[in-house]
Order: sequence, then structure tokens, then C-alpha cells
Amino acid sequence: MSTKGNSKNVPAHIAIVMDGNGRWANARGLTRVEGHKAGEIALMRTIDAAIKAGVKYLTVFAFSTENWKRSPEEVKFLMNYNREVIRRRSSELDSWGVKIKWVGRRPKLWPSVIDELKAAEKLTAKNTGTVLTMCVNYGSRIEIVDAINQMRADVASGKLADKPITEKSLGKYLLTKDLPDVDLFIRSSGEQRISNFLLWQSAYAEFVFVDVLWPDFDAEHLNAAIDQYAGRNRRFGGAVDAPKPASKRVGKAQKSGSKG
Ligand code: FPP
Repeated sequence: MSTKGNSKNVPAHIAIVMDGNGRWANARGLTRVEGHKAGEIALMRTIDAAIKAGVKYLTVFAFSTENWKRSPEEVKFLMNYNREVIRRRSSELDSWGVKIKWVGRRPKLWPSVIDELKAAEKLTAKNTGTVLTMCVNYGSRIEIVDAINQMRADVASGKLADKPITEKSLGKYLLTKDLPDVDLFIRSSGEQRISNFLLWQSAYAEFVFVDVLWPDFDAEHLNAAIDQYAGRNRRFGGAVDAPKPASKRVGKAQKSGSKG
């Protein structure tokens, strides 16, 4: 199936856990740092492929709230590298029409990284192409806890009416309030985990786990994942009663009627 151009089967929002930089490097006798450098190239070609496929929102996990547990050397490298990558790549991404957004928490995050992310947001603010959201110092559970605490504070100060919380009202307090739900969630490296990435936003995402380490991820992997997505039957909890004629029944293992 072709994924070229914008068809209705192209997911509007793809989220990616770019996993496997360290293993890719170590398998080659290199340091983890070299793996992250190769990861940058993979990220750029993935953004290019996503634009060509017609993906409107691409959200990538660059640094999690749990990544502070890594060695001080790797944390320092990743902070510096995030800042450097954003600085070096912003104008290129701008020329591709990409709108860069940062999603993440301020506490602990290096101010120089925040400054660079904010500068990239400003530079690309008027672009109307693919929205690239860089999740830097992001964790989904703390995002939800922060949202609830902010709602409590806003109720206390009279800014928010003291009414029961709804999915819609909570959604407006999430860091991702400007993003639609995730349609396709991709993780590279063969690991099959969410790792605290976009839990709320991926409630009905389709998951594709790609058995390749992130530095080897390319346009073919992205397009293959999009093709898998296009072939899935998304029901969002609903179900359609479509009994097969007797001659086509497959016994008890009927697909419909699952939890969606
Ligand atoms: C996961 O691989 C990757 C990260 C924690 C960082 C992602 C960083 C990049 C893709 C580098 C370039 C992009 C930016 C935005 C700086 P891992 O280190 O967990 O690999 P492992 O599971 O093999 O140890």
C-alpha cells in the first residue's frame, strides 16, 4: 500500500520512542554517546519521511523525567546534545516548514536547553507544516499529577470553577493540550513498553514495535509502520455486528466483540 501523499489512512499524529542508541553503539565497540549522535541522523531522516508521508504531528521522546537516573556523564551529554541539536537543526527544520514545539517540565531541565527550545518555537511559530514536538524532560504520570495540582490551585484562587473534573477539563491542563490524541505509537529497538510516554494521549493509539535499533530506523520502517496502521481496524471501544454467512464462519475465534 502506498503511503505517499496525504491519504485518509495516514495517521495524523505519530509518537516515537527512539530507543536503542546505546545498544547500537555498544554492538560496534563505540560509546553510548556515539549512539546518540547516530540517533540524530535517524531523527532527521524520520522527520523528512513523516513530512513526505503527510503526517501532521510527529512527537518524539528525547529525554524523559526518568533519564536523570543515567550516569552524570550521559545526562550531561544528553542535555548539551539536546541544546546543540536544536540549535544546529532549527533553521533546516524551519526551511522544511516544520513547526517546533517543546513539551516537558521545567524543574531540573537546564535553562540553556529551555532557552534553545523556546528560540526554536519562536523561529518556527508561523510555519504551517508538520508539527514536531520534542519531549524533553517529559513523563506522563507526573504530567497528569501536575495538571491536577494546577487545577486545585486554580480552584483555590478562583480562576477555575469548583466543579467535578472531566476528561475535557483535565486535558486542557496537560502539557500536550494543543496536540490531538496519538494515532500511531512507534517504539524502535524491539522493546515493547510505553515507558511513561503519552499515556493519556495514547489511550486509543495503535502500537507498532519495530525490531531495529533507533540509529538504523529509516523511511522504510516509518512507511511500513504507517502501512500497518492503515490496515488496522480502529473501533475506539465500539463494535459493529457483522455476522458472516455460515459457509465463512471460522468457529469460536470470532474477532468482533472484543473490548475494542
Ligand atoms: C534511547 O536510547 C534514546 C534516548 C534516551 C535519547 C534520544 C536521543 C536521540 C535520538 C539523539 C538525537 C536527538 C536529540 C533530540 C538530542 P537508549 O540510550 O535508551 O538506548 P539503549 O536502550 O540501547 O540503552
